[in-house]
Amino acid sequence: MSIVAIISSPEKNGNTEAVVNKIAETAKAKGQDVQTFYLNPMANRKGCQACFGCKAKGRCVQKDDLTPVLDAIREADGMILSTPVYFGEACGQYRLLEDRFFGFLDGSFGLNMPAGKKVAVVVAAGTGGADALATKIEGVMTNFFKCECIGKITFNTANNKSFAAGNADLMAQAEAIGKKF
Ligand SMILES: Cc1cc2nc3c(=O)[nH]c(=O)nc-3n(C[C@H](O)[C@H](O)[C@H](O)COP(=O)(O)O)c2cc1C
Repeated sequence: MSIVAIISSPEKNGNTEAVVNKIAETAKAKGQDVQTFYLNPMANRKGCQACFGCKAKGRCVQKDDLTPVLDAIREADGMILSTPVYFGEACGQYRLLEDRFFGFLDGSFGLNMPAGKKVAVVVAAGTGGADALATKIEGVMTNFFKCECIGKITFNTANNKSFAAGNADLMAQAEAIGKKF
């Protein structure tokens, strides 16, 4: 099984990264192939330009640093999606990618890639909003992209960058989800 892991937080060795890495490690230990993409360092990327080129071509026609990410997701059997909560929403790095998922939908808003990809969602907040955001992301991935959500991990960090890495319960949750891939 091939899995794409998305780390959108700009924080190096941050909370969502720690949880995603644990899920990925566990899946790798089962023999799955995991490709991890860090969105923040990508210098050349844009959000959806609403050109509707994807409706004619069957995939996003914009070429930039997100193109290999979108191509890998199209081919993958599973995804680990992650974002911190920024002002109650996903961070900008995640939103730019999410809007580009428009290229996975045809002109009738049907899916132009295989359905049934497994998806895990990881969201960290300082003090609140992670559950609502993870549920929103799950809704997008299941309703539009016909994914199967195999688990969500949400937590508050009180803005402690190392909160997740040292939290046995979160790491256990991550391991449990990793085993589902
Ligand atoms: C620009 C910005 C906006 C934020 N907005 C919120 C917010 O609305 N609610 C909240 O609880 N935490 C907020 N936070 C805190 C982060 O969600 C929190 O520190 C989270 O643990 C970061 O995850 P990471 O370590 O994976 O980057 C914000 C942080 C930043 C930098």
